[in-house]
Amino acid sequence: MIRPRVFVTRRLPEPVMERIREHYELIQEPGETPLSLEALRNGARDADAMIPLLSESIDDRLLAGAPRLKIVANYAVGYNNIDIAAAQRRGIAITNTPDVLTDATADLAWALLFAVARRIPEGHTLVSSGQWTGWGPTQLLGGDISGQTLGIIGMGRIGRAVAERATGFRMSVCYTAVRPPQGSLDPTWRRVSLDDLLGTADFLSLHVPLTPETRHLIGARELARMRPSAYLINTARGPVIDEAALVDALNDRRLAGAALDVYEQEPTLHPGLIHCPNVVLLPHLGSATMRTRVRMGTICLENIEAVLHGRPAPNRVA
Ligand code: GLV
Ligand code: GLV
Repeated sequence: MIRPRVFVTRRLPEPVMERIREHYELIQEPGETPLSLEALRNGARDADAMIPLLSESIDDRLLAGAPRLKIVANYAVGYNNIDIAAAQRRGIAITNTPDVLTDATADLAWALLFAVARRIPEGHTLVSSGQWTGWGPTQLLGGDISGQTLGIIGMGRIGRAVAERATGFRMSVCYTAVRPPQGSLDPTWRRVSLDDLLGTADFLSLHVPLTPETRHLIGARELARMRPSAYLINTARGPVIDEAALVDALNDRRLAGAALDVYEQEPTLHPGLIHCPNVVLLPHLGSATMRTRVRMGTICLENIEAVLHGRPAPNRVA
């Protein structure tokens, strides 16, 4: 029996790899390092299905050179790395991995919120460097969390999960959403305009997908409207923030701090960012728990199986 050929661009957690080897033929054994554009195109050439990463550009040219390809199962919830129109023209299904990474990403947004407000990385560095000289009344003073206002931009699955976690901290929640949010929301959460949100939030957390409309949604104008005591948290996509404008705002102390998991040009950072006061920088860890990463792989495989058997993909986005 000929098994369908799947192109996996990077090694996934072992339980996922095992399942792939059991049912499919791998185009090549995936490694741990990023593939060149050429290797990406070569790998796709004879594949029936592929599982790319969000950092890999699935463009028109790659799709044109992959005549057997029936599905691109993106190993991510976001799919801004894929030329959707080109895939649609060729009848190639695009799927993502929603829901399973909602909790992990919402948890990480909170981890960043705590880290930046209470200066956890600085405290850790002080102690672990052996330079701590003891408790001090003015040492590493941070911002309050409990009772403050949490502003959410984008009330989708992840935005809502972040907002739900605010209850235990007695925080008020305000949000903006382009589309009316699905289902019923906590009646105490207030939907406001972007400008109102910028002016009221003590913590502003971003949860929009990257689209032409959300690129640089937070730029110089928006940063100027934020309170100087406010913190900005981004676990969504880097280009939603104008990084150069953020560096200026932080250096001028027009913002209390920023905690980022994503960047405009990953893995390259704006050169000013690492020198800014009060930033917390993580290497895109939103979904990085073992359970989540295995579940993301399982979802990719469920979608591939459906499409290769002529059934509708459960998580088709285009
Ligand atoms: C992570 O950033 C994802 O889109 O899954
Ligand atoms: C803090 O540790 C305090 O005792 O005030």
